[in-house]
Amino acid sequence: VSGVRQRTLAKARTLLEALPYMREHFGRTVVVKLGGASLEDPRLVERFAEDVALLRMVGVRPVVVHGGGKQVTALSERLGIRPEFRDGLRVTNAETLEVARMVLVGSVNKGLVGHVNRAGVPALGLCGEDGNLLLARQRHEDLGFVGDIQTVNVELLRHLMESAVPVLASVATDGRGQSFNVNADDAAAAVAVALGAAKLVMLTDVPGVLRDDELVSEMAASEAEALIEAGVVTGGMVPKLRAAAASVAGGVERAHIVDGRVEHALILELFTREGMGTMLTAGAPEPPGMVVDVGEEAVS
Ligand SMILES: Nc1ncnc2c1ncn2[C@@H]1O[C@H](COP(=O)(O)OP(=O)(O)O)[C@@H](O)[C@H]1O
Ligand SMILES: [Mg+2]
Repeated sequence: VSGVRQRTLAKARTLLEALPYMREHFGRTVVVKLGGASLEDPRLVERFAEDVALLRMVGVRPVVVHGGGKQVTALSERLGIRPEFRDGLRVTNAETLEVARMVLVGSVNKGLVGHVNRAGVPALGLCGEDGNLLLARQRHEDLGFVGDIQTVNVELLRHLMESAVPVLASVATDGRGQSFNVNADDAAAAVAVALGAAKLVMLTDVPGVLRDDELVSEMAASEAEALIEAGVVTGGMVPKLRAAAASVAGGVERAHIVDGRVEHALILELFTREGMGTMLTAGAPEPPGMVVDVGEEAVS
């Protein structure tokens, strides 16, 4: 057999290696959360958009939820607003809320939508205010307009998923005119639980959950709080790990915290044997702070 033929066969085999995973994920919902680092580098965003397009083309139902903390901080500083965080959450006064909404909904969301569209599948950029997709209420006075998601408008989201990939900015509403800044990890977890997603994949700027500089490749959701209490997990990883644990406790089969700085991290995670990052599986007692109502009132 000629060299060319060999290479062609090798390509076919590579494609076929993904077949069992495609079969596993076919028709299932995968919620992907995109964090700051992967949003900063246009090359990475392009690779990510290609991955999303591929997922959609092989019959997976992806939903993208994004943050953009770094971008919010950058514009805040240009406007002379000093960002403040508590337990990894941005303290959000009215001014910061306005900036977050401008940056996440106006800029980051549309950038991402453009990339996915160019990768060949239609993307629909939305935030929780559109069609009351994400209804929230204030988490705590001390955090200002930081919201906890109470209800996801599942019927509308499912309807939209028929024709496009929803790309959601993590801004929610109380349904009466007040917007809320929601941590994007929390938003992604709430959406994943409400949709009954098979997987939640969180792309971030570290290899996963680290303990003594080593990657924790697998853990039970029930171990999350202990890692936070022990001070192993701090900063932005606190809401992320809590959200991942809550999603699994809420019925999502697996949650993955993955290095978004790696090109094509998403399809490597989904379609290859080598799992990446940290995988959380069930085994958690009821986690606090996450109530997701998918009942009748979710429908507007
Ligand atoms: N044990 C830990 N393992 C990994 N990351 C950690 C840990 N403790 C704190 N972190 C911090 O959490 C950050 C990820 O959260 P965040 O900055 O909010 O990113 P994202 O934009 O992806 O949400 C990491 O960059 C790291 O600085
Ligand atoms: Mg974060």
